[in-house]
Amino acid sequence: MKKRFLALALAAMTAFSMAACGSSASSETSSDAAADTSTDASASTDTASSDTSTDASASSSGRTLDEIKADGKIIMVTNAEFEPFEYKDGDDIVGIDVDIAKAIADELGVELEISDIAFASCIPALQAGKADFIAAGMSITEERKKNVDFTDNYFNASQAIIVPVDSDIASRTDLNGKTVGVQTGTTGDSYCTNEDGSSDISVGEVKRYEKAVDAAQDVISGRIDAEVIDNFVADKLVEKNPDKIKKLDEALTEEQYAMALPKGSELTAKFNEILKSLQDSGKLDEIESKYLSAE
Ligand code: ARG
Repeated sequence: MKKRFLALALAAMTAFSMAACGSSASSETSSDAAADTSTDASASTDTASSDTSTDASASSSGRTLDEIKADGKIIMVTNAEFEPFEYKDGDDIVGIDVDIAKAIADELGVELEISDIAFASCIPALQAGKADFIAAGMSITEERKKNVDFTDNYFNASQAIIVPVDSDIASRTDLNGKTVGVQTGTTGDSYCTNEDGSSDISVGEVKRYEKAVDAAQDVISGRIDAEVIDNFVADKLVEKNPDKIKKLDEALTEEQYAMALPKGSELTAKFNEILKSLQDSGKLDEIESKYLSAE
């Protein structure tokens, strides 16, 4: 199997270059920020819980390790529409990030609680003290670094392009003038909407979806020409509809995933220490092979 985890010790961050493509953006779905539905790892998204007792401290640097230990649980916020990193399996939320987060919680001697919300709401939720950390296949970007502290990166990824099997789109520049679906608030969204104006390609229209799978459905039905989504997620989507969609060989970006903590959090160093030990012990590889097919 190809090794995808980065050497955590060498985690010098290359700034994510937000090259993007000029276009107009339209919002496809209205389901915004499903608020702070704090649920147990095994519970489903929609349980609107008003469980204030589990709220992380509102102080900007988040709860301390002592506070978390005293509480007996650590709260992860994510968006479980991102197989294989976090997704629903019946009532459970599972995936690579969930297993890593559980291993971190185990190491800290606390329970893991998962709050599943819209991806674009994860950073605001962390900043509001509603969670202790984000694990959401989140790519490190300079923009996000203004609002959160990232751990060392634990995964290499890229933005991939999904098109119908018979599409005439064969490369990134073929996206020029086309209608492209993205997941709201992701790096694929910023890239295609050309947030920083540095794009070399120019998408015609960007449609935003809360769920990557819905955009894939619209590619299949011909409502949109392509979807831009993280490569491993793209692989899973194609795996389920191999006769209808395919992933292009050419990717749009190179990105690194990391977990995010409140700015100034004392947990970041602890997380890095644990991530390193999970890598050294082979546990990260084990988790990877559980969710990714060998190549
Ligand atoms: N890697 C992309 C980003 O950071 C997409 C992440 C989406 N994650 C999710 N759990 N829905 O913007």
